[in-house]
Amino acid sequence: MKALIVYDSVYGNTEKVTRAIYDTIVPSCDVKVLRASEAHLSGLGSIDLLIVGSPTHEGRATPAIQNVLNKVTQLSLNGINVAAFDTRIQVKLTRAFGNAAGHIAGQLTDKGGVLIVRPEGFFVAGTKGPLNAGELERAVAWANRILEKAK
Ligand SMILES: Cc1cc2nc3c(=O)[nH]c(=O)nc-3n(C[C@H](O)[C@H](O)[C@H](O)COP(=O)(O)O)c2cc1C
Repeated sequence: MKALIVYDSVYGNTEKVTRAIYDTIVPSCDVKVLRASEAHLSGLGSIDLLIVGSPTHEGRATPAIQNVLNKVTQLSLNGINVAAFDTRIQVKLTRAFGNAAGHIAGQLTDKGGVLIVRPEGFFVAGTKGPLNAGELERAVAWANRILEKAK
């Protein structure tokens, strides 16, 4: 299985979650990780699984992730398994403004992607982090669910 993880991270927390996901799937996949600022996504047709992760900024993904998603053309994800995650501070904030993972998942499925697990949020203690206790373990569990569904 060929997989691609595209992520953004300002303070390093989403990067840590990305690494936990990568470490979990790499024994079973040919997986590449790209930071959003360096992602071109030209070879989308040749992947089986696309995972996109972003910090939540004002209820949405970062501009760099938005840029990447805007460049993914309509239907180019047809039949490709997709999953989305974010990092966020608090349930209250995400209730008021929404969350990045939900927006990302919506855009991926609009373009033909098959959402195989629910969009997931991983919690940080403050704007700069750190990740709350147990969140990296939750990321590993989430990645294992992806592997199961993507089989
Ligand atoms: C400009 C800005 C806007 C933010 N807006 C939200 C928000 O709407 N909801 C939320 O839960 N967290 C919000 N946060 C907190 C981020 O989610 C947090 O900084 C991020 O999860 C840390 O991930 P990173 O270390 O990968 O950058 C915001 C942070 C910044 C810098």
